[in-house]
Amino acid sequence: MAGLIPESIVEDVRRAADIVEIVSEVVALKPAGRNLVGLCPFHNEKTPSFTVSPEKQIFHCFGCGQGGNVFAFLMQHQGLSFPEAVRALAERYHIAIPETAGGSAQGGRADLRSRLQAVNNLALEFYRRCLAHPKQGQPARDYLVRRGLSDAVIEAFQLGYAPPGWDQLARFLKGRQVPEDLAEKAGLIAARRSGSGFYDRFRGRVIFPILDVNGQVVGFGGRVLDDGLPKYLNSPETPLYNKRRCLYGLHQARDHCRASRAVYIVEGYLDLLALHQHGIANAVATLGTALTAEQVALLKRFIGSGDIVLVFDGDAAGQKAAERTRPIFEQLHSRFQPGSFRRESGVNTRVLELPEGHDPDTFLRARGAEAFAALAAGAKGMVAFLIDAALRQHGDTIEGRAMAVGEMVGPLQAVSDPVTRSLYIKLLAEKVGVDEAVIARRLARPGHRRPAAVGETREKAPVRLPALERQLTAMMLQYPEILADIDKRNVTSYFKNFQLKAVAEAVLARYRETGATDGVIERLGDPQLQRLAAGLALGEEQWTLSGCRQLIAQFERARGRPSREVFEAIAQAEQAADETRWQRLLLERQQAARQRELARRKLLNR
Ligand code: UTP
Ligand code: MN
Repeated sequence: MAGLIPESIVEDVRRAADIVEIVSEVVALKPAGRNLVGLCPFHNEKTPSFTVSPEKQIFHCFGCGQGGNVFAFLMQHQGLSFPEAVRALAERYHIAIPETAGGSAQGGRADLRSRLQAVNNLALEFYRRCLAHPKQGQPARDYLVRRGLSDAVIEAFQLGYAPPGWDQLARFLKGRQVPEDLAEKAGLIAARRSGSGFYDRFRGRVIFPILDVNGQVVGFGGRVLDDGLPKYLNSPETPLYNKRRCLYGLHQARDHCRASRAVYIVEGYLDLLALHQHGIANAVATLGTALTAEQVALLKRFIGSGDIVLVFDGDAAGQKAAERTRPIFEQLHSRFQPGSFRRESGVNTRVLELPEGHDPDTFLRARGAEAFAALAAGAKGMVAFLIDAALRQHGDTIEGRAMAVGEMVGPLQAVSDPVTRSLYIKLLAEKVGVDEAVIARRLARPGHRRPAAVGETREKAPVRLPALERQLTAMMLQYPEILADIDKRNVTSYFKNFQLKAVAEAVLARYRETGATDGVIERLGDPQLQRLAAGLALGEEQWTLSGCRQLIAQFERARGRPSREVFEAIAQAEQAADETRWQRLLLERQQAARQRELARRKLLNR
């Protein structure tokens, strides 16, 4: 079971793993100086800016800013958690991971998660066994056949059956020595309101296990076999299950999404299964919630900058669909970076509207996969869809058109790429029948703020870092010979930028501890800092000892320069004709300058 992995083992795994070997499995690398370069797997590019350093065992993409060590690569590329990445590599390089009890707070959490995982696995076993049971499972199997599902799909999605009766699962789990409070935390049983004992959450329902991206069961959905209510029941949020971060079917779809660089998103369990049943395997379901930023980020790991096709029921009124879609759109498109047109960092989002009265399941069963593919081929771009929906909603009157334009202001402002935006403005202008300039003016009006882009702070943060501190940190990462000086002169304690300070102090700590700096990147823990450090470590500066010392001297000069307050105090004393004070301040200033100069000579003339 997944416990805490001892630090020393993490260290062993890191030393054993070769980032070049791991990355090479997914990226074709070719030598470039000390490094290797290739096309970035995290964004779409034509010229390689994805760089791997065999020496430092790190990667960094100068295009999209992703970076880190071998663990970070696996985490980002395969969607693994840190312990999962360590475990995957440990297995590959034959390093045994001893199991620990995990006493710390984090260990406790990890331990709870792994215990919940075990309970979910047992429940899954129970539900599947009930479905397979010749007598007991008959009604559920009949139901699934009526819904057009084959044994292969039932098997691939590990469908199950929660039999009727109040406490079948509760008793099964008890027989397996599962503590009741744990099964309750997993959301599988609930305490009876009156008296004592527990009852099963899912009773008389077909069970849809919800897997995380790696295929671990994190929760369950259950559907009644008739038209009882509620039609669907889902696991509550647990330490394992967060519905904003899960997509039903992603585990089964991930390789197909990667291969096709596209994904269909539907709303229901059975819609998703119907797509698979009809051979459309690059599909996931959101399970009754609007698509979240987390889910989009997860999907992008597999589709890159490919296509998202939102599949909407035909009976959803245009307005309802548009309402749900607009925030998603703003989320997706505010990631456009200036100068790129969808391919660089955004995704291309389209909307497939099914004919009136259909959902994906009924449509596929009535018309088949080819008809679905034809609709997909004609799926509207998101903006065209939003415009049509707004016009439909407000009616084709002058006032209606004006309102439709008003409604498009937010979404259009969310498109940060000027070229893309102006193309969309043109489309809207044509549909509404006004001059483009009028719409452009309307967009320029203040009052509508662009929503903060997903991950925007991450991408922008490094640019604003003070240049000198940034250079110093890069130097520390690339030229360890200077670290003794840095340490002696307490350079990093004067850093103002907290991110650079965190990186620089981690480098120093590592150096003090081991006399070298390798392994420092994973010490940082925070992926944002890891990316920053990897980017700085991979710079191609040519360092020399004297150049480095010049840089330190420059920093100390800048830092030691008398502040504006000192100058103002001197000026004030002068104005007030306070001779003594004026003299004293001047003397202090001179002494400080002399000391700085002495320190500088000591540094440079060795
Ligand atoms: P729908 O009501 O559209 O059902 O709910 P459906 O998927 O077409 O199901 P069938 O074809 O009648 O079996 C869409 C999704 O919304 C969530 C479920 O995830 C469902 O798949 N939902 C719906 C619930 O969570 N609870 C409900 O009571 C209803
Ligand atoms: Mn349906």
